[in-house]
Amino acid sequence: MILLLCNAVVGDDEKTCLTHPTFTHEFERKKMTKKIAVLPGDGIGPEIVREAVKVLEALKANHGLDIEMTEGTIGGAGYDAAGDPLPAETLELAKASDAVLLGAVGGPQYDSLDRPLRPERGLLRIRKELNLFGNLRPALLYPELAEASTLKPEVVSGLDIMIVRELTGDIYFGQPRGIEERNGERVGFNTMVYSESEIRRVADMAFQIAMKRDKKLCSVEKANVLECSELWKEIVIEVSKDYPEVELSHMYVDNAAMQLVRAPKQFDVIVTGNIFGDILSDAASMLTGSIGMLPSASLDEKNKGMYEPIHGSAPDIAGKDIANPLATILSVSMMLRYTFADEAQAQRVDDAVAKVLADGYRTVDIYSEGTKKVSCSEMGDAVVAALS
Ligand code: IPM
Ligand code: MG
Repeated sequence: MILLLCNAVVGDDEKTCLTHPTFTHEFERKKMTKKIAVLPGDGIGPEIVREAVKVLEALKANHGLDIEMTEGTIGGAGYDAAGDPLPAETLELAKASDAVLLGAVGGPQYDSLDRPLRPERGLLRIRKELNLFGNLRPALLYPELAEASTLKPEVVSGLDIMIVRELTGDIYFGQPRGIEERNGERVGFNTMVYSESEIRRVADMAFQIAMKRDKKLCSVEKANVLECSELWKEIVIEVSKDYPEVELSHMYVDNAAMQLVRAPKQFDVIVTGNIFGDILSDAASMLTGSIGMLPSASLDEKNKGMYEPIHGSAPDIAGKDIANPLATILSVSMMLRYTFADEAQAQRVDDAVAKVLADGYRTVDIYSEGTKKVSCSEMGDAVVAALS
């Protein structure tokens, strides 16, 4: 039995339930209808989100999940509908919801738009507007997929790491930024910047997560070159005083990238800034066989969250019904676990995903000989059928 984050039994390791300790408010499950904003976005977004919505609908119809879903546009779809990658209506909907389920944004047809109108800006803005500073990106290997990884099975089998990526700061948002003329040529520039409080709150989240797992935290930065990283390291060390049980280590990002593909099982929890986390989480995803398997949660201080697969909009395969919907379905499970504190329902989804994999269902990205190749919608149907 493989669960996403709770009591994950992978190989010999047993990691206990990760519930963000700041998640103090429990939904009064019987009384309160949870509001979910559903933002399919672009490319394969609509098709993978459709399958995740099927799962939510099934939980609602057959397992008493009390939810209300409202759809909105974002990214290129937002631009097409309202001339804005984050239409005001969508932001309002997201703010009024308890959780957001997002597909993916971006597509080549939008690449030539003015920068503020590009799909990615809509995604970055919603993260910032909702103050979703803590981005949890688990990389968990399902035993059935050990062969799908490009790394040797013995290097990745039993892999269960959690990357905590800071999501609302860093060079992604730092000012000044731009492209301007200097000395007769154009110069592009961005600013890597972190305040103490930004570092402290994400470090705190990461330590709390480590406490619920193997109590090992690796802080990744580039303190040998960057002042911003120097401060990062200093603050993480400060925060570590509150968590004497957690074994804290520090690693430069270039080394971390190498270690992730050399010996990834040395890591339990990694905490890092926005851009380093962006890059390292893509690398980590391949350890698990397919980027199509990895969900994410982006959380604020009060457990409101946006849930999205970590892969992108994959415009090359959009509309073909071949995308892997499991990362989005597993994002639903994270939503149930983190925002709705409904472990039983989250477990139900995790078990269903584990079952379809054990039963041999595979989308093309994780297909290997001897397994059953299914489409995106067939995979969604299989998960729904496997919900106990
Ligand atoms: C991610 C994506 C986004 C990011 C892009 C689409 C803006 O790569 O969620 O990792 O860089 O954060
Ligand atoms: Mg990325």
